[in-house]
Amino acid sequence: MFGKKKEKSQIDQEQLELIQNAQHRVRQKKRLYIHFVIFLIGSIFLILANTVLGIGEGVTFFDKDWFVFAIILWLFLFCYHVFNVFITHRFMGKDWEKQQLDILVSKQQDRIAKLKKEFINEESIIAQSQAYNEVQESQKKKSELTLIVAVGENNAIGKDNQLIWHLSDDLKRFKTLTSGHHIIMGRKTYESFPNPLPNRTHVVITRQENYPSPAGVIIVNSLEAAFEVSKNDEQPFIIGGGEIYKQALNFVNKIELTRVHFKFPDADTFFPEIDTSIWQEVDKTNHLKDEKHDYAFSFITYIRK
Ligand SMILES: NC(=O)c1ccc[n+]([C@@H]2O[C@H](COP(=O)([O-])OP(=O)(O)OC[C@H]3O[C@@H](n4cnc5c(N)ncnc54)[C@H](OP(=O)(O)O)[C@@H]3O)[C@@H](O)[C@H]2O)c1
Repeated sequence: MFGKKKEKSQIDQEQLELIQNAQHRVRQKKRLYIHFVIFLIGSIFLILANTVLGIGEGVTFFDKDWFVFAIILWLFLFCYHVFNVFITHRFMGKDWEKQQLDILVSKQQDRIAKLKKEFINEESIIAQSQAYNEVQESQKKKSELTLIVAVGENNAIGKDNQLIWHLSDDLKRFKTLTSGHHIIMGRKTYESFPNPLPNRTHVVITRQENYPSPAGVIIVNSLEAAFEVSKNDEQPFIIGGGEIYKQALNFVNKIELTRVHFKFPDADTFFPEIDTSIWQEVDKTNHLKDEKHDYAFSFITYIRK
């Protein structure tokens, strides 16, 4: 009793579908046959109702009794039923439904594949633009806004819109560091030069509208505008004077300072005190007084802590 294995059904899925289809067709034809019988009985009943029982007696259309039209209408419905069973269901049966479904599924799959492709393309464009922005951002970060100044022991930087000393090695260093770069300056410092300095882009800050701008000189009306026009330079320099130094000190990353070892009591322009809690000295080179230099001085590099 327990040892006997239940026999596996030999009917596969395809056969099952054929059987179900055949059963469905049988049911359809059965219904058609019943419809035919009811139609015959109903027609006879309509004729008798009018002729024997006198229902709707005298009601005519186009000289014909009403039951003629009722039977014709019913016959039309019956014909439609016949058409459905033998024509429509033959061509639009389960196979047709399956075929339509397959077409629909393949269309949907194509659409999904297309959307996937578009999505991948979009993703790669976004990734590229992100990478581009990151590179731009890192390049921006690399830009090292540097302040360059020469100051006395009492932080003096100038008098009567001129420097108070002449130190040729300091000027050489200034030239070496700033050549090829943007040099940002106040209008007064710019006017203290006999001519624009060669091989540098001058950015002059003034509040005056329509300040004349010779070739190679960019005139701007604010410090922010000066930073903006110099942003593609990896090392723009703030070169003075007193007013611009004070305003720019908060924005610079580096200070190249020449400390002139003398107090200049007559100066009228000064550099702010360097706050060593913010600025770290990273390099220092001393120069003694000599026949070319009236004062001893030191080159000191500070970076923001
Ligand atoms: N020792 C050094 O290393 C060194 C370096 C450079 C200069 N200096 C000396 O410094 C002195 C000049 O300095 P300074 O303070 O008198 O003048 P400055 O800083 O060179 O220029 C001041 C002018 O810049 C413009 N300005 C300032 N802030 C501005 C802002 N926020 N927006 C728009 N424009 C602005 C104004 O021009 P407008 O009046 O046209 O509006 C202002 O009059 C000179 O003696 C020079 O020799 C020394």
